[in-house]
Amino acid sequence: MTDPDYRLLESQLRALLGEEPDALAAASNFVALLYNAMEDINWLGIYVLRRDELVLGPFQGKPACVHIRLGDGVCGTAAATLSTQRVDDVHAFPGHIACDADSRSELVIPLLAHHELIGVLDIDSPSLARFNETDQRGIEAICETFCRLQETRGSFI
Ligand code: SME
Repeated sequence: MTDPDYRLLESQLRALLGEEPDALAAASNFVALLYNAMEDINWLGIYVLRRDELVLGPFQGKPACVHIRLGDGVCGTAAATLSTQRVDDVHAFPGHIACDADSRSELVIPLLAHHELIGVLDIDSPSLARFNETDQRGIEAICETFCRLQETRGSFI
């Protein structure tokens, strides 16, 4: 498996989203760009913070669970703790929410705009321990760029 060139991906993201004024369109293309750039993943998408829960947003992959409470599963834990969750084996994660039975490892990154939680990016893989430290740092940097771009649009989605 070849790791994506995260710096190249980031410049592609800026080129793709930089001029787009619509936040939902930008978020949708963000998800599509990442999904197609990464190997060995089966689901990638955004859960958006709506009041006190996460709600399914733009994604690529099989239909997924729509509502996740803060603190529940990998996504809810990332949102509640504002910290990236890199899970090598989702079956060993207490409370993991199995949306796609194929998923074995998962990377979830909190998304913040103007220092406030706006949602999470969730990436699932059918392979155990698919995501390493390089993937985590690379995707965190891309999420940072995405969030800064979304801040310019006035709304997140
Ligand atoms: N597995 C996630 C739920 C979302 S799906 O993977 C798309 C979790 O435990 O939060």
